[in-house]
Amino acid sequence: MLSGKRIILGVTGGIAAYKAVVLLREFQKAGAEVRVVMTPAATRFVGIETFTSLTRYDVAVDVFSGDQPGQSWTKHVHLGEWADLYVIAPCTANTLAKIVQGVSDNMLTTTVLTARCPILICPTMDGEMYESPAVSENLSKIRDMGYYIQEPESGYLASGLEAKGRLPEPDTILQRAGTIIKNHAIQGPLTGKKVVVTAGPTREFIDPVRFISNPSSGKMGIAMAEGARLLGGDVLLLHGPISAEVPDRIQTAPFVSAQELFDLMKSHSDADIIIMAAAVSDFSAEEKHDQKVKKEKASLTLKLKRNPDILQWLGVKKKPGQVLIGFAMETEDLIANAKSKLEKKNLDWICANSIQSENAGFESDSNKITLLSKNSEEVFEGSKERIAIDILKKIFQ
Ligand code: CTP
Repeated sequence: MLSGKRIILGVTGGIAAYKAVVLLREFQKAGAEVRVVMTPAATRFVGIETFTSLTRYDVAVDVFSGDQPGQSWTKHVHLGEWADLYVIAPCTANTLAKIVQGVSDNMLTTTVLTARCPILICPTMDGEMYESPAVSENLSKIRDMGYYIQEPESGYLASGLEAKGRLPEPDTILQRAGTIIKNHAIQGPLTGKKVVVTAGPTREFIDPVRFISNPSSGKMGIAMAEGARLLGGDVLLLHGPISAEVPDRIQTAPFVSAQELFDLMKSHSDADIIIMAAAVSDFSAEEKHDQKVKKEKASLTLKLKRNPDILQWLGVKKKPGQVLIGFAMETEDLIANAKSKLEKKNLDWICANSIQSENAGFESDSNKITLLSKNSEEVFEGSKERIAIDILKKIFQ
């Protein structure tokens, strides 16, 4: 349930902060991508470097991080937008009180206010503190505000006393996190489906400074990925070198050449739905030079070899129930060419684009697509985002 999910782990300044290291590893083992934010007090219990090394990302502590160049002060906004779940473990009585009051005096508490995802709070403290009237009242308020609380466990505490206040075992927190994410998943026709979308061009390098490519912007593929996410799908976007912005909430993996895309696709060919919107180069240079070829020495003839047809390969391997959706970019005989690709590549659907249409094509924000199956044909026109949603609804609703 946590595989591919994005989790912010907030660590506050209690002795159980050291257990957050194990929790982080368990989240990672479960396949989640984790970023850590710490309160300044937490850094007295565990070194920032521990979390930086384990996540391979900067650990955010202060909102204004003058000593960390390159870290934008708007990081809390991006983090809050990025995550599927924010887990604060351990959460001290102090941070709990701040959250109840909306105090935003460090990166952890500020990110609580920007988070668009569910927040799971694991209050962890001495037994007396936990039972104190102020903490009890804050816990009840925070529940009413819609935060999730994972109650502490009873046992041996740092004070040497036995009481309720211990951070629950990582497994308990993982299970709770999984349930929360599951309950917050968008419910739609693609809920529970793994959707792989490809977008953008490939680059086939001839030497380190020259390559064969095409003007694909990746916008249509990104729109299909976002559309699939909005219909509930668990989306992975494989994208070539693109400048178009990918929405933060989509999981991505980059490729450069057709062969790299092919390798990535082989490891995701189990997906329930595959949408091949990438403009894959059919050819690459027969010989790739390690050094720049000097023009005096270069031949005027470039020898090419055929790249694998990834979609055709997927069509041959297609598993029962899997839906394959291709794209066809044509300059002539749009429908006939697209229909022949539909059949040849064993596709369920193909989105036919004409580069000749007005307000359509590679760089444009709008498009005109004829969606074809073996026995249907329908035209969709408008912004790429609108068309993507309409096409996916037509196919899956
Ligand atoms: N495609 C692919 N692998 C390739 C070439 C294309 O997976 N080597 C996919 C594209 O992502 C698209 C579909 O096949 O979904 C059709 O691509 P297109 O370039 O329109 O057609 P081709 O099959 O390459 O045929 P042609 O170039 O002759 O039109």
